[in-house]
Order: sequence, then C-alpha cells, then structure tokens
Amino acid sequence: RRRTAILISGRGSNMRALLAAAADPAFPAEIALVLSNRADAAGLLHAAEAGIATAVVESRPFGKDRAAFEAAMEKELAAHGIGLIALAGFMRVLTEGFTARWSGRMLNIHPSLLPAFPGLDTHERALAAGVRLHGCTVHLVTPGVDEGPIVAQAAVPVLPGDTAEALAARVLAEEHRLYPAALAWLAAGTLRLEDGRVLLEDAPLPSATA
Ligand code: GAR
Repeated sequence: RRRTAILISGRGSNMRALLAAAADPAFPAEIALVLSNRADAAGLLHAAEAGIATAVVESRPFGKDRAAFEAAMEKELAAHGIGLIALAGFMRVLTEGFTARWSGRMLNIHPSLLPAFPGLDTHERALAAGVRLHGCTVHLVTPGVDEGPIVAQAAVPVLPGDTAEALAARVLAEEHRLYPAALAWLAAGTLRLEDGRVLLEDAPLPSATA
C-alpha cells in the first residue's frame, strides 16, 4: 500500500472520509500521517483518536518564507516515509518547488466544478453566478492554484432558495464520496497523464460520477 499523508488546516471531514476508506486493508493507500499547518485543526484530534500518526508544522512562524515552511513539512513527510499526498482543506498555497517535487503524487480536492470558481468562497460565487450545477473536483496539484489535471468530478444541483451553507453541505457529501475513489486510483496506478490530461484505465467509477 502506498504510504500517504493527508494535509489539513481545519475541520478535516474529507480527511475522515479518506481514513474511513483506508481502514479497509484492500484500499491501495495507507494513511501514514496527518499533517496540519495549524495546531488547532479539529481534524488532528480525530486522526489521533483513530490511531494515525499526526504532526503539526505551524505555517504562521515562517511568515512569507513558504520554502522554509515546506522544508519543515518535507522533514515530517520523509520521517514517515510518505510517497503520496492528499490535500484536504489545506489552506496554504504551495511553491513551484514543492509542487514539482510531488508532481503526479499529490491530489487536492476543490469545492467547485473546475475550471469554474478556482480560489475561495466557491459556493457564494456559484450562487452569485446563477449556475444550475455546482460540485467538486479532485485534481493533481501543479504550481497554478486549482489548475492541475482533473482526476474526478461530482456535480450537484443548485436548488431554488439555496444558501451558501446548504449548497456547501450538498457539495461536501459528494466530496466525501469522490475523494476516496480518486486517491484509490492514484495509489493503484490507474492514472496516466497524456497531453496534460488524466486518462483513467480500468478505474471503477463511484455511481453518478464522470
Ligand atoms: C472542503 O470543502 C474542501 O473542498 C475545501 O475546504 C473544505 C475543507 O473541509 N478546500 C478548499 O477550499 C481548498 N482551497 P474539511 O476540512 O472538512 O475537509
């Protein structure tokens, strides 16, 4: 099984979904570390309770020196023999150097149907734009924020009277279904890149996912 780190900054509900999937010994990724850039991330407690190794590398003391922050993270990743990374609500932008070192080995989940609504406040922006479909995307991480090759997407309807909170909850339920499937594909080596796009070979799709 591929030794995988989950990087979080907060609540960690996607982390929980990944931990739950990886609790099955047949899942091709083993979660060997949960790393947070904030000591107060709620997800850390859950990971520790689940018996998963946790680490905190506070980003704040490094200020603008992102490379030094990442070097401190790399130490933890190396100490735990990590080969794959899943960003799960990790709210720091990574440098080109870090993304290059983990190229093809690092996933992110983003709460929109990329390339629509990269960045923050995606649910508010989806409502403001009047889109009828919204959703989430798992993609490989490249230097451009929320720009990497798309691995998987799931869509939800935007309903009359939706608030950002209601829409976020509907999307989040799909995130929890989508991310374990995408990580399994990466860990099992089902993903291939061609012309900067992801090809899936023999990848079992979770129902209603394109
Ligand atoms: C999730 O909705 C995730 O897609 C989003 O933050 C939330 C984290 O929730 N990620 C981003 O916005 C990345 N820029 P979680 O901590 O409960 O998984």
